[in-house]
This record gives sequence, structure tokens and C-alpha cells, in this order.
Amino acid sequence: CSGASAADNGRILMVTEATFPPYEFREENAIMGIDPEIMREVARRAGKELVIEDMSFDSVITAVVSGKADVAASGITVTPERRKQVDFSIPYVEAAQVIIVPKGSSIRSRDDIRGRKIGVQHGATGDIYVTRNIQQPERFPNGALAVAALAAGKVDLVVIDRDPARMYLANHDELEILPEPLTSETYAIAIRKGNTELLQHVNKVIADMQASGKLEEIRTKYAAM
Ligand code: ARG
Repeated sequence: CSGASAADNGRILMVTEATFPPYEFREENAIMGIDPEIMREVARRAGKELVIEDMSFDSVITAVVSGKADVAASGITVTPERRKQVDFSIPYVEAAQVIIVPKGSSIRSRDDIRGRKIGVQHGATGDIYVTRNIQQPERFPNGALAVAALAAGKVDLVVIDRDPARMYLANHDELEILPEPLTSETYAIAIRKGNTELLQHVNKVIADMQASGKLEEIRTKYAAM
């Protein structure tokens, strides 16, 4: 390996799993959301073209480690295990895992979930938390499918990230998010270890977008969709 990355060809290759609104989702075949907007600004300011590839969430970090991709921008929670594999940008979101239940469910808090059928997105921090601290969950390829299973009565609750939970529930009047979150987390962009130049550039762009209010503006735009 020459240490070269896709960025050297005038491109930055970003991988993501695009069923995670407002961070990434498909609309008329384009991948939209907060992560593509941040990365488009990163690419623009580096004079490069942004190329986005959609894949399963449990592959995005591996794609960066192997050098197939330059960055994974996918609502990725920073964890100690992941830090061993990739470098993380400065955080750009305060996030949380929340519990979704059918309205009227007897599940009212984290104390009620043991022994119930818990749906999660495979490989996500909700999966990791439930597996470690509660029991084996039912794993779905993505969060939208976990919520669909909940709506169909196939699981009793879903544990998933708060902002996507709010988005999914826009189409599900019969479901609700419990007020008390299960975890508190931060999202950051994953970059191959040793790619310091890209890491510093991404950090600068995020810091500038935070300082100028641009990031907040983007978040507000998607929250209203
Ligand atoms: N924040 C969670 C994690 O890092 C879930 C992220 C899922 N992202 C996605 N684009 N599907 O594990």
C-alpha cells in the first residue's frame, strides 16, 4: 500500500449508511443530510470532489481502516473500541440512545425493558449497549426496519439514536419516545489513522461551521423537514 487515498485523485470518498435521517437519507436517489452537507463543505474547501457510497452500517469503519474510503460520516458515535481502529474528528453532535414504545405500552423507563423484545440496528451503539447491559436484542439491518417491526408488534421496544427516532416517528402516530434517554454520546467523523492532513482539515471545517452558525442552520433545516 502506497498510503495513497481516494483524496489524492482530487476526490474524497465518504462512506455512510443512508437510512438515518436527518444525518443521511435518500431522496430521489440523492443522498442528503447533515453528514453529506458537512463533507461537501470539507471537499469544497479542499478543492476536491465528494463521492458518497452507501453501505451497511457495520461496514463503514472497516472501509476506512482498509483504505477503501477516506472518511466514514454516518452519525457515528465515538467509542473507545472504535478509537482503536480510526481517528475521530472533533464532535459535531451531542446524541443519545432513546427508547421507542407503542403509545400505552407498560414500558415507561429503562427499568421496564429487561425480558422484553428489544429491536436495535445491527452494530450500532444501541445494539452494543443493550447486548452488554441488558440482554440479546433482535438485530435489524437498519433503524427504519427496527421501527417498522415495532409498529407491526414484532418487538416491544426499539433502542435507537434520538434524532433519527424523531424522524421515523413522523410517520408513526401510534409510537412514542420515552423522555429519559438511555445513554449520552457524541458523533464524529471517522478518518483513517495517520491521515493527519485530512483530520486537521475536517476539524477546521467543523469548527468554522460551528462558529459561524452554519451547522446549527443545517440542523434546523433538517429538523423542520
Ligand atoms: N450512532 C450509532 C452508532 O454509532 C448509530 C449510527 C447509525 N448510522 C447510520 N448512518 N445508520 O453506532
